[in-house]
Amino acid sequence: MIEPLLIGKIRIENPLILAPLAGITNLPFRVVCRMGGAGMVWSEMISSRALHFSDRRTKDMVVFDPGEHPIAVQIFGRDPGEMADAARFIAEKGADVIDINMGCPVKKILKSGSGVQLMREPDLARSIVREVVKAVGCPVTVKFRLGWSEEEMNYLEMGKVFEEEGAAALVLHARTRVQGFTGLADTNAIGRLARSVGIPVIGSGDVSDGEGARRLVSETGCAGVMIGRGALGKPWIFDEIRAHITGTESSNSPIFRLDLVQKHLELLLKYLPGRRSVGHLRKHLGWYSKGFPGGAAFRREINWLMEPGEIVALAREFLGLPNNRNGETETG
Ligand SMILES: Cc1cc2nc3c(=O)[nH]c(=O)nc-3n(C[C@H](O)[C@H](O)[C@H](O)COP(=O)(O)O)c2cc1C
Repeated sequence: MIEPLLIGKIRIENPLILAPLAGITNLPFRVVCRMGGAGMVWSEMISSRALHFSDRRTKDMVVFDPGEHPIAVQIFGRDPGEMADAARFIAEKGADVIDINMGCPVKKILKSGSGVQLMREPDLARSIVREVVKAVGCPVTVKFRLGWSEEEMNYLEMGKVFEEEGAAALVLHARTRVQGFTGLADTNAIGRLARSVGIPVIGSGDVSDGEGARRLVSETGCAGVMIGRGALGKPWIFDEIRAHITGTESSNSPIFRLDLVQKHLELLLKYLPGRRSVGHLRKHLGWYSKGFPGGAAFRREINWLMEPGEIVALAREFLGLPNNRNGETETG
């Protein structure tokens, strides 16, 4: 029922994939999602223009952990030369797949003429894919939407363009730009795209449990399923979905979950030194603590703390985590 997915030469045993989420799918979260059963992970989007100007912060985003491969790194921009340079730089750093963003509906990105705006400029979109494919030896994919609006749906034409230019797989977030994140993803469209191209199609939109993933694959014939918002506070969702689809045991247990949270906290402190982890700690602990008794008070408390060490200490106490991998909790 779930077959391994081939993106060019990259084989993904379990095609349940972490979606790119700006500000969220950084290295620490990607590693814990792989531990939680994701067969592959996607980076947050990276600006080709910022790389062109050697922006330090952006370069720092192009760092991988041995435990997270296979990884696709997503780039955005509108200059084919800059996009090709960015792809080359990232591929040399060890990305397994380069993905091109043609789906972002955020105003700031549209103003710069990238994201889903490119679906309105098919010739430019074509040359971006062509130049990026020429620039790298690894597979290139494109993530896009149904089109700008219901009246301007051109995903089938664009899918063909990307395939002609050498894309190794396509990811479709089955909504229009006008829809943003509202309404429901149109799963029929994922099926139509999958039938109209000869390369694998990965479906994205609204999958948050095993039954949703199973239905998407069986109804559309898509080769992979992306999970975005469903993984927030639940990096173990991938293993749950795999177990549901294959009818096998899930390794998911309270201990397994706490181990992932523990690992996530450690990686945030390791890879985002100083106070750079604070926002991420608050955000993820906010999701992890949802539904826990006393969760709201815990979230209020960590929002006042400015030191990563203090936040982690409070989180460990709240979640009953050991203070270190060998140690005991402060509360016993
Ligand atoms: C907070 C947030 C950030 C996102 N960032 C990106 C991004 O950087 N690149 C991209 O292609 N899609 C991005 N998306 C879209 C997701 O990858 C995905 O296609 C969409 O959320 C639908 O899937 P879901 O229902 O599983 O979340 C983002 C979505 C959200 C909610």
